[in-house]
Amino acid sequence: MSQLKVNYAGVELKSPIIVASCGLTETVERVKKAEKFGAGAVVVKTKFEEPMMAKSPTPRFNVISRGFGNDSSLSFYTIEQGAEADIDGYCEEIVKMKEQTDIAIIGSVGGVHDETWVEWSKKVEKAGADILELNLSCPHSNLVIGKASEITETIDHVTRLVKKHVSLPVIAKLTPQMNSPLATAKIIEAAGGDGLCAFSRFLGLDLDIETQQPVMHGGYAGHGGAWSLNYALNWISRMYPEITIPISGCGGITNWQDVIKYFLVGANNVQISALIYLRGYEAIATLNKGIRGYMDNHGYANIADFRGNVVPKIKTLEQFHREQVVVARIDEGKCKACGACERSCIYFAVNKGASYGINNKCAGCGLCQYVCPFKAIEMVSKI
Ligand SMILES: Cc1cc2nc3c(=O)[nH]c(=O)nc-3n(C[C@H](O)[C@H](O)[C@H](O)COP(=O)(O)O)c2cc1C
Repeated sequence: MSQLKVNYAGVELKSPIIVASCGLTETVERVKKAEKFGAGAVVVKTKFEEPMMAKSPTPRFNVISRGFGNDSSLSFYTIEQGAEADIDGYCEEIVKMKEQTDIAIIGSVGGVHDETWVEWSKKVEKAGADILELNLSCPHSNLVIGKASEITETIDHVTRLVKKHVSLPVIAKLTPQMNSPLATAKIIEAAGGDGLCAFSRFLGLDLDIETQQPVMHGGYAGHGGAWSLNYALNWISRMYPEITIPISGCGGITNWQDVIKYFLVGANNVQISALIYLRGYEAIATLNKGIRGYMDNHGYANIADFRGNVVPKIKTLEQFHREQVVVARIDEGKCKACGACERSCIYFAVNKGASYGINNKCAGCGLCQYVCPFKAIEMVSKI
């Protein structure tokens, strides 16, 4: 029988699904809902030191779908700021979450001054949080904007500072807007961090071309979406063999298959936000069911049985096969001679006719099979 539980920085989670820090986790009522649908933990909405970060503008949510028809990608574009309560109210809510739920509660703070990082971290610990996440990653924060080359130093400093003053596990949450997430992961480990979360989101901008104004609240906003998964998989696959502290994978999860991908590159657990905003807390139950189904099908008792399995199989640039092994083949029965493959073929390998054919200029790139609307093209062995 498969088990979903994982040990995250010394804390046992009943499920590896953590509701990421955001409005979904700001109050005890919302956290109870996350528990009801099977979350293993929540990261409470961040309490920021900067006073303006306690009030969000309206409206603050936008869903942008852009691209090529069926090949569009979703971006969740938002300007939700930090927790509204003051630090004492924030900690009172953590006390209630601990009293009224049976899941792990992860506090999240974002300071400016050293004294605040220390004082607030101690308060969150005193309130009973199981883990503390350091928000060194908010896309709107002055710690992050334009600081790609300095942020690692800040993460190092804050992690060391906070670790000196609290004894609960301390996790550093990373922005994707930095020079080297791998080097930073090693620095967090050396600084005594008990884990890291990779990643928060990027800062973006969208425009209305008729009014010639930034959309929504009139400024920049955080954005993430399905597309951000691959960025995180890349970096986590590089961190996993190089550090021993656990990695919480975050960004772009839309279904249970995405969660499995995070585990296969080495994540201990995953954090999710956009999916739950857009599909409800119910999505957590669907994810747990999907993970369990995958584990049962593959005969895995624990997530540790397959964590990181893909990492040793990732080829380096030097190791790629470079001789051409496949060519395209068109199924004449399915081809409607629409011309999509010919328009996309930069090798002039498509012969036109009542149905199309592939000539010997085919370079085996594989693009035509994706652009064909009739699924009439497959790649076959050249030999
Ligand atoms: C509306 C919204 C508010 C967020 N607020 C916070 C926050 O207060 N603190 C934080 O660390 N991350 C915050 N995040 C980032 C999420 O915790 C998460 O890292 C990010 O959304 C990527 O996950 P996703 O692709 O599943 O949404 C927020 C994200 C969204 C969408």
